[in-house]
Amino acid sequence: MPGIRGSAAYSHEPPRDPCLKINSKEPFNAEPPRSVLISSYVTPVEFFYKRNHGPAPIVDDIERYRVCIFGLVENPKELSLDDIRKLPRYDVTATLQCAGNRRTAMSKVKTVKGVGWDVAAIGNAVWGGARLADVLELVGIPKLAATTPSGGKHVEFTSVDRCKEENGGPYKASIPLKRATSPEADVLLAYEMNGEPLNRDHGYPLRVIVPGVIGARSVKWLDSIEITAEECQGFFMQRDYKMFAPSVNWDNISWPTRRPLMDFPVQSAICSLEDVNVVNDGKIVVAGYAVSGGGRGIERVDVSVDGGKTWVEASRYQKPDVPYTADDDVCCDKWAWILFKVEVDIPQNAEIVAKAVDMAANVQPEDVTVIWNLRGVLNTSWHKVEVQVGRSNL
Ligand code: MTE
Repeated sequence: MPGIRGSAAYSHEPPRDPCLKINSKEPFNAEPPRSVLISSYVTPVEFFYKRNHGPAPIVDDIERYRVCIFGLVENPKELSLDDIRKLPRYDVTATLQCAGNRRTAMSKVKTVKGVGWDVAAIGNAVWGGARLADVLELVGIPKLAATTPSGGKHVEFTSVDRCKEENGGPYKASIPLKRATSPEADVLLAYEMNGEPLNRDHGYPLRVIVPGVIGARSVKWLDSIEITAEECQGFFMQRDYKMFAPSVNWDNISWPTRRPLMDFPVQSAICSLEDVNVVNDGKIVVAGYAVSGGGRGIERVDVSVDGGKTWVEASRYQKPDVPYTADDDVCCDKWAWILFKVEVDIPQNAEIVAKAVDMAANVQPEDVTVIWNLRGVLNTSWHKVEVQVGRSNL
């Protein structure tokens, strides 16, 4: 495996769709044009955003591939992909969202550090794999366990890839054992994405999927699982992917004062329009996505054409012909986004806004300045675009 720096490290990257907008080439970070997201409820693999911290590793000897499960556990084990495939298979439709989604808009308030993303560092896929709760039973940890007899409370995932933030070491993250052993949390060791084996960019041969949680915890290219007493001490848990107050800067930051981000807040974005638009007609369709973390469904999406003075409610849908309800018990795909759509009459110069409300009545904040943070994470402020009625094609 080549190192992590210099162009040689990136000489074996997988092929990628040319429509992707590249935000960083090495490591490869790219998102589709925003309009692609609303063309299907399930995002095609080639258009799904790619978020890498180092070269995409090659795991080619699948016969010898093993996931080692060890640490504070009774029966440590090495599992082959076949062992994992023998467990009951689950297909979970879940939206994966990078905590840095919509960072570019936040950076317009004041500079932030991180890869610039528009509104498409997000995608919805059907992940096929074994439940982590079933895998952990193989090493003697029962369902719904919050601790192991030897004091294990966290499940740490270590990957095959190498990244500079870990000084050339592997990407890592952890989740609490309680979430890992809960069948309802639907945490997967996924080997398929949209019915196909995972491709290299998305973690072949095996990745973790933690539904409802920022993408950073869904470790790709899984190498090992350690049961630990403390949460993972790696860079991406302790010195990144935390949210600070707007007053915190690079001189006064104290990383240990905040916990690693997990569930993401309620989010929505308009995908049928760019930031600035000129249209011929006074009627347009405003369409986009909305999603909330922790399995909370979307109760409502409001759209305004006058910058938020008046609102209309958009229709929400997941699958055609299945009425959508945010109710947990009847919900369609609880971990997945909804797409929304509404036709509106627009005045001469319109500021179109979308905001979503989740089933716990959480609502997106109006103003990005109140949630500004130096790493530019979790920009969930109202999404606004401008539309002028003019003669765009002349
Ligand atoms: N896992 C590994 N091993 N290496 C990574 O760089 N990036 C994380 C997560 N898992 C990452 C990883 C981040 S920040 C996100 S948002 C998601 O993977 C992106 O997954 P995707 O590229 O499949 O969209």
